[in-house]
Amino acid sequence: MSHTNHQCDLDADCDHHDCGHHGDDHHHDGGPLAELVTVRDWLRYAVTRFNRNRVFFGHGCTNAFDEAVWLLTHALAIPADRLEPFMDACILGEERAPLLALIDRRVDERVPTAYLTNEAWLHGFKFKVDPRVIIPRSFFAELLENGFAPWVNDPERIASALDLCCGSGCLAILMADAFPAAQVVAVDLSEDALAVARDNVDDYGLNERIELVRSDLFDALAERRFDLIISNPPYVTASAMQALPPEYLHEPRMALAAGEDGLDIVRRILAHARAHLNPGGLLAVEIGHNRAIVESAFPELPFIWLTATGGSDMVFMLSAEDLPA
Ligand SMILES: C[S@@+](CC[C@H](N)C(=O)[O-])C[C@H]1O[C@@H](n2cnc3c(N)ncnc32)[C@H](O)[C@@H]1O
Repeated sequence: MSHTNHQCDLDADCDHHDCGHHGDDHHHDGGPLAELVTVRDWLRYAVTRFNRNRVFFGHGCTNAFDEAVWLLTHALAIPADRLEPFMDACILGEERAPLLALIDRRVDERVPTAYLTNEAWLHGFKFKVDPRVIIPRSFFAELLENGFAPWVNDPERIASALDLCCGSGCLAILMADAFPAAQVVAVDLSEDALAVARDNVDDYGLNERIELVRSDLFDALAERRFDLIISNPPYVTASAMQALPPEYLHEPRMALAAGEDGLDIVRRILAHARAHLNPGGLLAVEIGHNRAIVESAFPELPFIWLTATGGSDMVFMLSAEDLPA
């Protein structure tokens, strides 16, 4: 696209004083700090860098454009959904170096944008994140949006719910929203993760409804029972861990790695869940692409596979009565 209509073009007519610049950029040797002026310029530049360097999109965006919009709008404190009016606005001299640094970190260090912006979005809910927690992207977000229908008939009747392996607390918060009468317990083994979850629970004003517990799975829960247990546990196999794009290496390893076949944590959940469910209670566990591994490891269990937009066999469900005693 031509720049001829820009008020801040770098052509001969450009008067950088009009947009708060002091003309210094004209004296640089070149490069992005000298040459890129408008939001449009920087957006184009970010998209090009992301595409040319094949950054991986798996943490909230699926393409270079959306990711660049996210990074730029956050860095410039402009609304992510109202970019158009700002496209031809100047990015001030003082704003350019920090913006370039963010793009560099995304490309050169492969830091996911969620960690650069310290925010992640899940079905309209915003969560604070940093490298102490995995970036929220669970299939449960969609399942909880409908109050876990049709498996839960009346969301008001869920009185107690457990989010096992809670990370940032995102799913516990979505459960508190989906089940307005429920007291929610959120468990993680990582103190770091629980500190982030604390921030998020505070931000949503849910201290009275969500209890955070440090526990190795069910260990610290004594005899407590729940109407619903959900878990998005670590489930990445050893071979998949070897092949992860570098972006994932910024996430806590303990949030991903789950032994040779990815079932180290799932096995323990299946062994103990029944003792923590009320009669008629439900256990739902996300296992990613491991359905075949799960089914061959537990051929006797009558798994129900839940359907979400991103896949129809990423989350299984079992009722209390179907779980091993
Ligand atoms: C895949 S992350 C899911 C986090 C969050 N529920 C989400 O969907 O974004 C798995 C979480 O399990 C926690 N974890 C790993 N092993 C655990 C264990 N033995 N007991 C409890 N939590 C554990 C990790 O610290 C991590 O926060």
